[in-house]
Amino acid sequence: MNNVELGKHGRDRTNVWVYPGANQRGSSANAELGNHPTPKPVELVADALLDVSRRDDVVLDPFLGSGTTIIAAERTGRTAVGLELDAHYVDLIVARFEKYAGIAAVHVATGKTFSEVAAERRADAPQTEDLVRPTPEASVATGEYAAPTAALPTDVTAETLNVD
Ligand SMILES: C[S@@+](CC[C@H](N)C(=O)[O-])C[C@H]1O[C@@H](n2cnc3c(N)ncnc32)[C@H](O)[C@@H]1O
Repeated sequence: MNNVELGKHGRDRTNVWVYPGANQRGSSANAELGNHPTPKPVELVADALLDVSRRDDVVLDPFLGSGTTIIAAERTGRTAVGLELDAHYVDLIVARFEKYAGIAAVHVATGKTFSEVAAERRADAPQTEDLVRPTPEASVATGEYAAPTAALPTDVTAETLNVD
C-alpha cells in the first residue's frame, strides 16, 4: 500500500524520519515523558498510519507503552487494538485516550466506565493502616510470630560451618 504516492508529491520515506522528539520541549512525545520512558511523537505514528492503512482500518500495536498508537489512530480515523504488559501503563493509556478523545472508556466485561472501575478498586484497596507492618512485639502478642525458644549457638565459626 502506498496511500500518499510517496516520492511523487514531495513527501518521501527514508529510513530516517525526522520529528520533534521526546527531548524537545513542546513536542507531543515530550509531554508524555513524565509518564513513560520512551514515548514516540504522535505525528510520526499518525503519518505512518496514513501511509499504510485506510480510514476505519484496524491497527494493532502489541507494545502500547504510553498509547501513542491509540491517539494516532483516533486522530487519523483508524480503530486501534493493542496490548500492554504493565497495568500502570494500561491505566495511563486509558486516561490519556479519554483526555484526548473527550469520551469515557468502557470496560467491555462489565459495561462500567474507567472511572467507575477505578473508584471501586480504590474503595477495595487495603487502607494505609492495613499496610503497616506490626512490630515484632505486637506480632508475638497476637501469636502471629513465635520467638525461637532454643538459644542460638555462640560457637559458630567458618570452620564449624565448613565455609571458606
Ligand atoms: C518501547 S515501549 C512502547 C512505547 C510506545 N510506542 C509509545 O510511544 O509510548 C514498549 C512497551 O511494551 C511493553 N511490553 C513489553 N513486553 C510486552 C509484552 N510481552 N506484551 C505486551 N506489552 C509488552 C512494555 O511494558 C512497554 O511499555
